[in-house]
Amino acid sequence: MDSWQELQLVVDKRAELGEGPSWDKINKRLLWVDIFGQKIHAFYPETGEQREWKEEAYVTSVVPVLDQGVVVTLPHGIYRVDLADSSSTLLAEVELDRLGNRCNDAKCDPQGRLWVGTMDRTERQPTGNLYRLSKAGPLRQVVSGVTISNGLAWSPDGQVMYYIDSPTHQVMAYDFDSVSGGIAHPRVAVTVPPQLGMPDGMTVDAQGTLWVCLWGGSRVTQWNPLDGQLLGEILIPAPNVTSCAFAGDSLDELYITTARTGLNAETLAQFPHTGGLFRVKTRVPGLPTQAFVQ
Ligand code: BGC
Ligand code: CA
Repeated sequence: MDSWQELQLVVDKRAELGEGPSWDKINKRLLWVDIFGQKIHAFYPETGEQREWKEEAYVTSVVPVLDQGVVVTLPHGIYRVDLADSSSTLLAEVELDRLGNRCNDAKCDPQGRLWVGTMDRTERQPTGNLYRLSKAGPLRQVVSGVTISNGLAWSPDGQVMYYIDSPTHQVMAYDFDSVSGGIAHPRVAVTVPPQLGMPDGMTVDAQGTLWVCLWGGSRVTQWNPLDGQLLGEILIPAPNVTSCAFAGDSLDELYITTARTGLNAETLAQFPHTGGLFRVKTRVPGLPTQAFVQ
């Protein structure tokens, strides 16, 4: 089990569907979203300042862009946004012909291509897909038959991509071709026992260990992807733990998002800070958030 200092609630936002933390190292801020609240949030650890921007639709992920600005995904599109004046440019449309779906988690690979997955809004049908967008465009479909496209991560050497379709309860591993962005040889790296919860967002530390958030599981779990063994867990006082990312100058602060959606009044009373942004210090540093390269 990894060691950590005490878990802290850093932003008590009570987000409906807090998601998608990413570390914007240039601006020293932790970016995250409230998908159902239609907001982009930023937390500045050095000053404790918080900012938020309201969107006109669900905003399902936010990732920094290498030089300036952010890329966000809305239900059916990928946009580059300048948070200073809220101007935006459409980079790619996503499944405009499938309104029963929406975009969900997105992340950049080590070369700065954006990967975004879609999901069935009812969370039942395998109508979703996983796409890749590189600066040369266009948007390419890479995986199909997905129900709730979720966690994405790459191994420290960049040779393996990890991917979660939540209802499968599995973390899949693929050989990753850094030159083409292609993936091959899917295999199961981790199976999360259903009684623990459903795997959602994930990240990787510098040793290649996977940190997987469990929806309905009140915890972040740590796994060895080479043998599928559970190495440790961090309990979170919120049932729906959605995603996590390493941040800070030393990349040893793990930020964790949570969600209130679907919980009844009794559970919310028991876990009043559900929907907040939490943080723990880790012994092992994580891998940095990769910015989008355009
Ligand atoms: C989705 C939620 C979904 C959850 C389940 C999240 O990434 O945005 O809509 O309920 O995953 O794990
Ligand atoms: Ca997610």
